[in-house]
Amino acid sequence: MSKELTGYATGWFAVATSDELPAGGVLSMKYFGQKLVAFRGDAGAVRVLDAYCPHLGADLGVGGKVVEDTIRCPFHAWRFAGDGACVEVPYATKIPPRACVKAWLVRERNGLVFVWHDLLGRAPSYEIREMPEHGSPEWTPWTFNQITIRTQPREIIENVADSGHFPAVHGTHLEQFSNEFVEHMAIQRSAGVAYPRGGGSDKFNLTATYYGPSYQVTEMESFIPNRLINCHAPIDEDSLVLRFGVMLKKVFDDAKMAKYSAAYINNLQVGFAEDRQIWENKVWRDRPTLCDGDGAIGALRRWYRQFYPEVEATP
Ligand code: FES
Ligand SMILES: [Fe+2]
Repeated sequence: MSKELTGYATGWFAVATSDELPAGGVLSMKYFGQKLVAFRGDAGAVRVLDAYCPHLGADLGVGGKVVEDTIRCPFHAWRFAGDGACVEVPYATKIPPRACVKAWLVRERNGLVFVWHDLLGRAPSYEIREMPEHGSPEWTPWTFNQITIRTQPREIIENVADSGHFPAVHGTHLEQFSNEFVEHMAIQRSAGVAYPRGGGSDKFNLTATYYGPSYQVTEMESFIPNRLINCHAPIDEDSLVLRFGVMLKKVFDDAKMAKYSAAYINNLQVGFAEDRQIWENKVWRDRPTLCDGDGAIGALRRWYRQFYPEVEATP
């Protein structure tokens, strides 16, 4: 990690897929260098709390159970509501007023569970837009996958502007490539021909948009029109979880669509494995030696700094 940007960006981070949290589900997580617990209570909403119980410190995510719309600690069965307040101590006459854990702001959108992270504790400055394709009968459901990568978020983000790596790392032939940065959005428009590692070729034309510092949606015209999600959440300052998903326009029967979904997600996985080999072995350069064909890497970095208010504040 360079000295320039440390800590974690401000924004919405996807920390789970909706499928990872069925009704009554509990998920133990580590993000932003902290243990968290997510659960889906009776009311249907996903809640995310700091994991360690204020009583004697048990991890609510390891053995904790959903009871109605609360989570019950595995150690002495204190129960916590979605706002983090303790609502029951089964063997006490009075609930200690300080018995509460931090509750994270949560949004469930497009099949993902997001938490709002801001070191300064401010309210969200943007929202995750609902995708009309999600849940539409004309589109397949998401196929999601995830990998853990030993790197830091800026490397992932930089792919959006780094046109030079596509032919070298992914074997992609680019015919068009441009970037635009608008408020919390970083947009890439590109067209070319992809050569999936399994063989064949696929002409594509896409718009890939980061909404905030970690969540990207791609709208792609190709052999089968598709939507991709690529989002990361930092585990700590040196590693992160990258989630990616694919949704296809239903242009064939269900069996064929399932086959294509599997092929597309596999191609994505292969692509990220190619990036990962670079990311896990490279160093970060605050002052890279760039050339005229490198495009908008500098502009992308300036865009990304807006999510580090403590850096923005220092000239
Ligand atoms: S540690 Fe959680 S109830 Fe005691
Ligand atoms: Fe890449």
